[in-house]
Amino acid sequence: MSAQSQVPVIAIDGPSGSGKGTIARNVASRLGWHLLDSGALYRLVALAATRDGLPLDDAEKLAEVARNLEVQFDSDNSGGEQIWLSGSIVTDEVRTEECGKGASTVAPLQPVRTALLTLQRGFRRMPGLVADGRDMGTHVFPDAGLKVYLTASAGERAKRRHKQLKGKGIDVSLAALSRDIEDRDRRDSERLVAPLRPAEDARILDSSSQSIEAVTRTVLDWASDL
Ligand code: C5P
Repeated sequence: MSAQSQVPVIAIDGPSGSGKGTIARNVASRLGWHLLDSGALYRLVALAATRDGLPLDDAEKLAEVARNLEVQFDSDNSGGEQIWLSGSIVTDEVRTEECGKGASTVAPLQPVRTALLTLQRGFRRMPGLVADGRDMGTHVFPDAGLKVYLTASAGERAKRRHKQLKGKGIDVSLAALSRDIEDRDRRDSERLVAPLRPAEDARILDSSSQSIEAVTRTVLDWASDL
């Protein structure tokens, strides 16, 4: 058994707006474990490619972008997440809906996914890793000790995203957001490569009518025998 495979992993997968980012951050911080926001890596590939003027359908060029991604995650003075790309802070840019769309356009390309695999597995370090995404339990960490598939109704997810964006001063209509979420869900679950679906051994958790704290506690409870 390699040293890396002895590092415990909690995989949290699910559709956009299911709350997996928030839950993964909470669980990682309470356990004192590392965090992998894999969606941010797909977003960064799209952002870096756009900055280089590359079309988002050139699989080989995009894979090269992914292999050479100079990315760093850390926190700002108030403990908020900060994302760096090639030496500049791109935290807000990465979170835009446009970047999310770009991410789901490059995500079906197998060379891009293969290029990001090594990068993602490199986050697996002691004392443990909480990884959030679409295929953490099915492809990236199939041996994760705990796999959670977090869902919420499409309406609830659109409302949460709307509130989140409004809080950042970004004004988008709820209807437009619902359409975007449904389109993205469709692209993510219907694609041939690593589609969004629960791992066979995942525990399904519906967060529609639960508080963030309640969902966090459930995951921590499930993780207690890792
Ligand atoms: O989770 P987030 O909204 O940041 O992800 C953006 C997009 O990246 C998703 O819609 C999906 O297409 C892609 N993605 C993926 N596999 C992952 C994480 C994200 O395909 N593990």
